[in-house]
Amino acid sequence: MKSIGLSNYYTPKDFDRLVNAVTVVPALLQNETHPYHQSSKMKEHLKQYGTVMESWFPLGGRGNTQKLFNDKTIKKIAKAHNKTSAQVILRWHLQAGNIAIPGSSNEDHIKENFEIFDFELTKDEMKQMGNLDKDERFADY
Ligand SMILES: NC(=O)c1ccc[n+]([C@@H]2O[C@H](COP(=O)([O-])OP(=O)(O)OC[C@H]3O[C@@H](n4cnc5c(N)ncnc54)[C@H](OP(=O)(O)O)[C@@H]3O)[C@@H](O)[C@H]2O)c1
Repeated sequence: MKSIGLSNYYTPKDFDRLVNAVTVVPALLQNETHPYHQSSKMKEHLKQYGTVMESWFPLGGRGNTQKLFNDKTIKKIAKAHNKTSAQVILRWHLQAGNIAIPGSSNEDHIKENFEIFDFELTKDEMKQMGNLDKDERFADY
């Protein structure tokens, strides 16, 4: 095996225990990551290993997206850029250094989700997004 992707390791201690027991360091860790659960500490911890964070539930996940889409701060930022809340969240992932692959079975949404490369969140908007972190998960895998 040359490359390993890992999922659902939420504490540096657990991740270190695994890394110390293997010869191939995981290239990627896929954890629930979105504006209400930003995984900042784990992301920082992974840097020493060159492991990157991939977000599952990047938009909050099926059944939860409206909580994020209707968040006042996200809506305000979306309005300022003439974008949707989904696009603002995906742009935030991009600028925060997360890998995010949103799930959708709707062609219009899939197109919309690609249209995030023609605008940029300001430093202040990134700070506002950062302040939304509540360490709140929508699932418990
Ligand atoms: N490793 C793990 O433990 C784990 C756990 C959970 C999930 N995952 C993986 O993570 C990936 C993402 O999960 P997910 O699809 O549930 O989460 P998600 O991408 O956060 O949310 C998907 C939901 O967002 C909606 N959506 C997508 N784009 C939209 C847009 N532009 N406007 C409005 N709604 C939009 C979709 O509805 P429409 O279809 O109507 O667009 C769908 O209901 C999947 O590949 C999943 O397998 C991994």
